[in-house]
Amino acid sequence: MNQVSSYFPALRLRRLRQSSALRSLVSESSLQPSDLIWPIFLREGENIKQPIDSMPGVFRYSVDQALEVAKEALDLGIPAICLFPHTESDKRSADCSEAWNPKNLSNVATRTIKKALPELAIMTDVALDTYSDTGHDGFLVNGEVLNDSTVEALVKQALSQAEAGADIIGPSDMMDGRIGAIREALERAEYDNVMLLSYAAKYASTFYGPFREAVGTYGALNGDKKSYQIDPANSNEALRCVARDLAEGADMVMIKPGMPYLDICRKVKDGFGVPTFAYQVSGEYAMIMAASRNGWLDLEKAMFESLMAFKRAGCDGILTYFALAVAKKMN
Ligand code: PBG
Repeated sequence: MNQVSSYFPALRLRRLRQSSALRSLVSESSLQPSDLIWPIFLREGENIKQPIDSMPGVFRYSVDQALEVAKEALDLGIPAICLFPHTESDKRSADCSEAWNPKNLSNVATRTIKKALPELAIMTDVALDTYSDTGHDGFLVNGEVLNDSTVEALVKQALSQAEAGADIIGPSDMMDGRIGAIREALERAEYDNVMLLSYAAKYASTFYGPFREAVGTYGALNGDKKSYQIDPANSNEALRCVARDLAEGADMVMIKPGMPYLDICRKVKDGFGVPTFAYQVSGEYAMIMAASRNGWLDLEKAMFESLMAFKRAGCDGILTYFALAVAKKMN
């Protein structure tokens, strides 16, 4: 960094802030609808838009309704959506086989939306939590979340998503070796253009609470995910995860949660120079919504400030439940 070369009064930094014209001229970051990926929750049925208590303004959509809102997002300039199915308990099982059912909710939605809106990028989630009866992202046997057998299942899940037409596959499970295994399987099946956005730096966070209600794993999950997600005290470990996933064939990486981990975003961007995304997770959304509903925060300003912070921290894009609302305000 250069040293300050002059001193007050020659140097008056407030000169740069005196009007909105000047402020916009010297602004260092910008936020566009094209920076956003919008996560959408799915459920079975037709013509359903079901509210989620802990995430006011967020809904679970049946596939027909998901298509409608996906269209709206695309029209507003949002380039990608990310699908999360709420799986009914009768479709959850110990072997998680619904995860690679070509006709599961996520795959049906991918096919339907891709067919109607080919220009909209579709991201899907690879992890077993919404299909297991334990709420864990892998197979839980004798109190241990197994790594290698879980990776075999994740590969099947990823292939079924690629087959359905997903553009971006997002492994969010944090098993070791899954990026390499999925990349190899995609190449072998000639899905060589399918991208992997690895949830590389995913922390064992309490801020995922509302999401677990949204996808129906809240009651199921017994214990925590500390044996596979990163300890919030660590940052070197997150960088090792990113380096490893890039070496195994990830095209893009994600840091998750977002706001409490902006230091990690900056380190990843500076250290690797690859497309870097952050996930402003359900608990972050819920905090802002709760405070604004109490009249304690201005929702619109909080939404924009929180998203700009990700751009300043070096992120190329943000997964956020605010995507549609923000894009509407910008248009
Ligand atoms: C599951 C998954 C989680 C989220 C995305 N994928 C929850 C978890 O790891 O327990 C959280 C997203 C959010 O909180 O908005 N693999």
